[in-house]
Amino acid sequence: MLRIAVCVSGGGTNLQAIIDGIASGLITNTEIVLVFSNNKNAYALERAKKAGIPTAVRCPKDYASRDEFNEEFLKALKEAQPDLVVLAGCLVVIPEAVVKAFPNRIINIHPSLIPSFCGKGYYGLHVHEKVLERGVKVSGATVHFVDEGTDTGPIILQKPVMIRQDDTPETLQKRIMEQAEWVIMPKAIDLIANGKVTVKDGHVVIDGYDEMVF
Ligand code: GRF
Repeated sequence: MLRIAVCVSGGGTNLQAIIDGIASGLITNTEIVLVFSNNKNAYALERAKKAGIPTAVRCPKDYASRDEFNEEFLKALKEAQPDLVVLAGCLVVIPEAVVKAFPNRIINIHPSLIPSFCGKGYYGLHVHEKVLERGVKVSGATVHFVDEGTDTGPIILQKPVMIRQDDTPETLQKRIMEQAEWVIMPKAIDLIANGKVTVKDGHVVIDGYDEMVF
């Protein structure tokens, strides 16, 4: 069984896709051992409680310094003894100590096709605003391993989503979640849980797949 800790900050629709994926058998060999939030009002916490999953909340503003918060964040994760940490709409800048404690064992979902529209400042609705501003015709989502950089780790899965002429940042965000994020996040976890994912020379190799089609 792959023990996963899911880190959230907001609505938790990606968390819900993981919970549902485990319940339906889409994700196998996996259990969620912790939902961590940096925001005590995150609706994701309700979703976790409804599913009977243990939760931990640590808010940066409750600590005297960022270092103190980072230590508590790492401590809460370590206590749950996860094999994999899943960032599912987690707005915390992941401290270096956490990356070091879980090398190639942290994954993140980003709502664009990396390396486009990613890096510092590209989060939430801003990503989709920039996509529409530039006028690209295709966007999508990416699941990747987390390294010390921002959105720079090895890419695991990507799924494209076509842009409509009448899209707004909100409609595009919704379609990318429905068509891409909620598909590739559960899929990536299932692949990892079944030992299909390895990192070789900074690239992800997926056993048994020549071309990923969803
Ligand atoms: C998603 O768009 C995800 O790609 C980004 O944050 C959003 C989280 O949404 N990292 P939710 O909390 O899973 O509903």
